[in-house]
Amino acid sequence: MDHMLHNIWEQPAIAQACLELPLDLNPLHLEDTIQQIQHIQIIACGSSYHAGLVAKTWFEAIAHLPTQVQEASEYPAIDPFLTPQGFRIFISQSGFTSDVITVAQSVKKATSQGLPNSISTLGITNGSQTPLHTWVDHIIQTPAGTEQAIAATKTFLAQLIILLRLVLQLATQRQTQSQQTLDRLNQALSAVPSQIEQTLQQQTAILPTLAQRLLHAEHCILLGRGIQRAIALEGALKLKETAYLHAEGYSAGDFMHGPIALIEPGFPLIAIALPNSLNYNKTIENLRRIKSYGATVIGITPSTNLEMVDLCDHICPIDLNTPSLDCSSHTATEWLSPLLTVLPLQLLAHAIAQIRGYTMDQPRHLTKFLA
Ligand code: BG6
Repeated sequence: MDHMLHNIWEQPAIAQACLELPLDLNPLHLEDTIQQIQHIQIIACGSSYHAGLVAKTWFEAIAHLPTQVQEASEYPAIDPFLTPQGFRIFISQSGFTSDVITVAQSVKKATSQGLPNSISTLGITNGSQTPLHTWVDHIIQTPAGTEQAIAATKTFLAQLIILLRLVLQLATQRQTQSQQTLDRLNQALSAVPSQIEQTLQQQTAILPTLAQRLLHAEHCILLGRGIQRAIALEGALKLKETAYLHAEGYSAGDFMHGPIALIEPGFPLIAIALPNSLNYNKTIENLRRIKSYGATVIGITPSTNLEMVDLCDHICPIDLNTPSLDCSSHTATEWLSPLLTVLPLQLLAHAIAQIRGYTMDQPRHLTKFLA
């Protein structure tokens, strides 16, 4: 088995390790700053940037903290927006990515020169003793183990779980959710490792058909709404960097404003659509229109969702058993779903790369630092 596939199947155990990782805010010496934080800024690249985009929804919806996610390579020389009440989080699985380190370094230097800066900085990395450790105030090391494959899979999942745990702790301290809601979310999170295992198993029946269907495809669109937009972007990155398939992720709604012109009979499109998620009906409406132009639609959705089963040509089943609880307009199911919806996309990218005969552990033009 190649490293990428091995890493994908390690994820149930990695998820469990992430849940067991001691993550008290107190040992991080963040407790003094928690009440002062008014907003968050996340800085990252690639898959880590997508983890930041997922976390933005969590920080805003669960901990009520406005969050900006910035591609490190696009970071402005002087950031005029972050007030002294901002908290910066640098995410890098390797801890070596120069675009990320450059920003962390300039922030640290600005602080030492007394320029207006964030309260404090946190690095989330899978590496130990990386350059990122040098330039941030606090570090959380994700317990994903070395990820030999170039494409991030288990480290992405680990970043998500650690970020969600951080959000839940912030929400507890800031009292932005009821204790009952937080208890249920924590309870639902504890079931995630077994759901990851089940979801991975569930894909094995459909994968050969899907990989064959996309074998000669030159383009593919991935759609998600709300929190799933980040997973559509991450899935597109996996297809590009592993299977060299030109894939683009969009929010389902914005795809209708221009890119829909790309659709012609047989155009492959992957849509993540979970019932009870925000504006689910709108996504279905969008997909019906896309389907009417002849697209081949692959749905990532529960196998019991007959609406999507009828509408789509193929289904990648995602069967979340999390309790449905109303917290503003979201549900626990929707908040936790990115931990599962990314899985079929990882497996699909690997399967296409495999039948195309590519070396998925070492895609062309890409390198990876292993700490
Ligand atoms: C890119 C890789 O070079 O770096 C991506 O191709 C990766 O797969 C990105 O997500 C960011 O890496 P890191 O180590 O900073 O998370």
